[in-house]
Amino acid sequence: MTELTADDRNRLTSTTFLKRVEYFPTLVSTNDHALRLTAEPHLETPLIVIAREQTAGRGRGSNHWWSADGALTFSIVIEPALLDLAQNLWPRVAVVTGMTLCDAIQRIAPQLNTGLKWPNDVWLNQKKVAGILVEVPPAAYPIPPRLVIGIGINLNNTWKNAPLEIRDKGTTLADLLEKKVLPGEILVDLMQRFEHNLRLLAHAPQLLAPRWQSLSVLTGKIVEIRQGDRLIKGSCTGIAEDGGLMLENGSVSTTIYGGTVVSHE
Ligand code: BTN
Repeated sequence: MTELTADDRNRLTSTTFLKRVEYFPTLVSTNDHALRLTAEPHLETPLIVIAREQTAGRGRGSNHWWSADGALTFSIVIEPALLDLAQNLWPRVAVVTGMTLCDAIQRIAPQLNTGLKWPNDVWLNQKKVAGILVEVPPAAYPIPPRLVIGIGINLNNTWKNAPLEIRDKGTTLADLLEKKVLPGEILVDLMQRFEHNLRLLAHAPQLLAPRWQSLSVLTGKIVEIRQGDRLIKGSCTGIAEDGGLMLENGSVSTTIYGGTVVSHE
């Protein structure tokens, strides 16, 4: 069974930290729906919004998220205060999510090469298999601060019919494994790991850095990062304990906290 079943949805609330599951056959974007939910002051969180199909999934910036039938697309809403996550730790949530996804994917595909491309892509055998879009909805009393964490995983879709301009950049688990993966299994495992890692982020963040360092695919490469009109170039030395990307250019070391990786070689 490669659909998410009612039983899977029950397992998400009975065996993970999720309090509520919203499942839709079709949505424009699970992040858009989750953002709308956050206008409710008494929303029970963490919650997950899952769509079997998105008609206009969003990527970072103005990017679209292309996905075909079989992809796993969902958004999680968390209330940082309920997880003891201080505001200075929020920028690390994308990297923690990516790292957690890598671990969940590695469990089901140990023979493949999983990597984290800072700040929010997961690679499988050198191609993008999943993307993450973290958004901060407006919060003012009585609405508490929340985070919407959107995740798209190329699971049981095929990349063979992807648009030409992205065809050589992405891959899917089913294409590489040559078999389907149970979406309920990966989602339950992912949510259990996610709760664990968010609690580590809150209480012992230094324990997370070695794992994301070892997963970083940009380390050792010459990278160019665009931040607005600014282009920053340097040799990547890894992902810092605070989640930034560390670059070296001659004798100058910098840590980057946002932007788009435009090239890496
Ligand atoms: C990226 O790679 O730029 C981020 C992609 C994030 C895609 C996911 S799919 C589920 C959620 N809903 C969206 O509209 N986007 C995110």
